[in-house]
Amino acid sequence: MSAGKGTWRSRNLYLIGFMGAGKSIVGRILAEKLSRSFLDTDRMIENKVGRTIAKIFQERGEEYFREIETEIVARASATHQAVVALGGGAILNARNREAIKQSGVAIYLKWEFAQLWPRLLNDRSRPLSVDLKPIEVEKLFNQRKHFYEQADFVIACHEPETPEQIAQKILRSLEGSR
Ligand code: S3P
Repeated sequence: MSAGKGTWRSRNLYLIGFMGAGKSIVGRILAEKLSRSFLDTDRMIENKVGRTIAKIFQERGEEYFREIETEIVARASATHQAVVALGGGAILNARNREAIKQSGVAIYLKWEFAQLWPRLLNDRSRPLSVDLKPIEVEKLFNQRKHFYEQADFVIACHEPETPEQIAQKILRSLEGSR
């Protein structure tokens, strides 16, 4: 998904993966460790629209959300050497994938669905996991896997790893790449 793993030092680091993977919290820790700035596209969308993600889906629908998401990914990709946590569906759009490829490397936080699902159950902030039946959310996961797997770095995550440990794992992968 990029110009090459070894280019990561001069480029943005994009965290990708399904809802509940910990992209935001791991991203914040990673940014701190690397002394980089941290961007979270969901928060940027909320700031731009002045509504929560849940309200945007409810009032304007997913299509509108995806339009704004693409604008925000373009804006994020214009920054340099940032750590960027992307929403779980951002990589579905070819323009977003191109922006990621041009400006950075993608890091996939890979979890088994069975470990992600319990985290989504009690979270009302994610419209897709709230509105869809469990079987539909799992279908979404399976449809997206192929895109996630194209990341430059695939980080296998397992319970009970903490965000700190996952950030350490990412650092080791980055440092070991050429
Ligand atoms: C979405 C994931 C969410 C958010 C929106 C849609 C998705 O972000 O962008 O609810 O399509 O998977 P997180 O992955 O941070 O939960």
